[in-house]
Amino acid sequence: MSSLPETAELGPPANQRAINLDWNAVQHLSEADWGILCAFLQNALLGSSEVETAVGALRAELLELIAGGLVDRPRLLNLLSALAIFCRDSEFVIPVSAKEAELLAGLSLGRRIAEDLIIRCYRAVDEEELTIDEIERLSPIADDTSLAVQAMYEENPYPRWKELPVLQASTEAIDCLIAGCGSGRHILAIAAASPRGRFVGVDLSRASLAYGLMKAKEHGISNVRLVHGDILKIAEIGITFNHISAVGSVHHMRDPLSGVKALAGVLKPGGSIKLALYSKFGRTAQLAGIELRQNLDIPATREGIQKLRQAIYSLPDDHPARGVIKFSDFYSFSGCRDMLFHVQEHNYTVPEIFDLIDASGLRLESFRMRGEGKDVAQTREGLTNLERTHPGFAGAMFRFTLIN
Ligand SMILES: C[S@@+](CC[C@H](N)C(=O)[O-])C[C@H]1O[C@@H](n2cnc3c(N)ncnc32)[C@H](O)[C@@H]1O
Repeated sequence: MSSLPETAELGPPANQRAINLDWNAVQHLSEADWGILCAFLQNALLGSSEVETAVGALRAELLELIAGGLVDRPRLLNLLSALAIFCRDSEFVIPVSAKEAELLAGLSLGRRIAEDLIIRCYRAVDEEELTIDEIERLSPIADDTSLAVQAMYEENPYPRWKELPVLQASTEAIDCLIAGCGSGRHILAIAAASPRGRFVGVDLSRASLAYGLMKAKEHGISNVRLVHGDILKIAEIGITFNHISAVGSVHHMRDPLSGVKALAGVLKPGGSIKLALYSKFGRTAQLAGIELRQNLDIPATREGIQKLRQAIYSLPDDHPARGVIKFSDFYSFSGCRDMLFHVQEHNYTVPEIFDLIDASGLRLESFRMRGEGKDVAQTREGLTNLERTHPGFAGAMFRFTLIN
């Protein structure tokens, strides 16, 4: 087992481009710049080590000032509110130093507004109740792997998202299934763009579905059914679909082929299934990060996730695992867990993808080539050769469409 790399400080390394957000500078910003800063904090997710460092330093500075008696005033409260939203939305992933922990221990809720707000920059206070009881369900989850995957996503619903993507509008009145819809970002975006379509999302995690349900209500989207259940038992839904999409879900099943076959069983004649499955060569950084986690024997707890993040920040720039800091998933607990701590995942090469397709009884219609924005016909031989010369050509996932 390797030992953890030495790390003197918490958080990202000092040798990066700095964003300066200290209270002295920030409180004297013009009205316009002030508005932009607060809007950014309220609407952005972390996504970069520079932002993590800057926001972490500002939070630590404000904590020290508030603990030292800095008086409540409008700009301070305004900034603290925005900062608290930012920290909550990134699941409080920014590391906390021993000094901050000590200062926080001396604060309590209900004494003054600035104190309440700075505490909310470090931990959740009265978390919103998720509407789990309202969720429809298929028969109970029984498969061992599905149960383990469910447990993981019940603890960390994924992905956390804020903005609903705007997709091209469609007037088709079709039935669509999103298998492994997670917290609903994709299904809600297509349902909003296709008001005549009927959309069913199925997932193992009730917490993720509840997140999706909350977002559906927030956006007034009503042509979506979110159902708790296992893809293995999708036939119980009792309807068939024109289109099925399973992005990033089937590779988390013990036997992905049985998942694809179950989906094929609810596909209407002439329908299509879009799949996105992990690419072994497109995920070299993630696989190196997973190997590091396994070598260091780090558990999938909040502390463990934080420990692995610190270990990765301490790696030299040319270490293969260091590349994970470029992925937005690195900047939240749920994202890190999904990317580096998964209980079950399959990573494919091109020949393995074609073996899966051949065994599924379906036919390949098209393959999405990265950067081309459209799906094109491809052969096993052509893509195998491409993978030989350009191993990560597909990016992190192979995306392709099957037909019956
Ligand atoms: C990485 S997340 C992807 C979520 C979503 N498709 C997206 O792209 O944002 C994988 C999701 O697949 C779900 N999943 C995995 N195996 C499943 C199964 N056997 N049945 C239903 N859902 C499953 C998980 O619960 C999880 O929410």
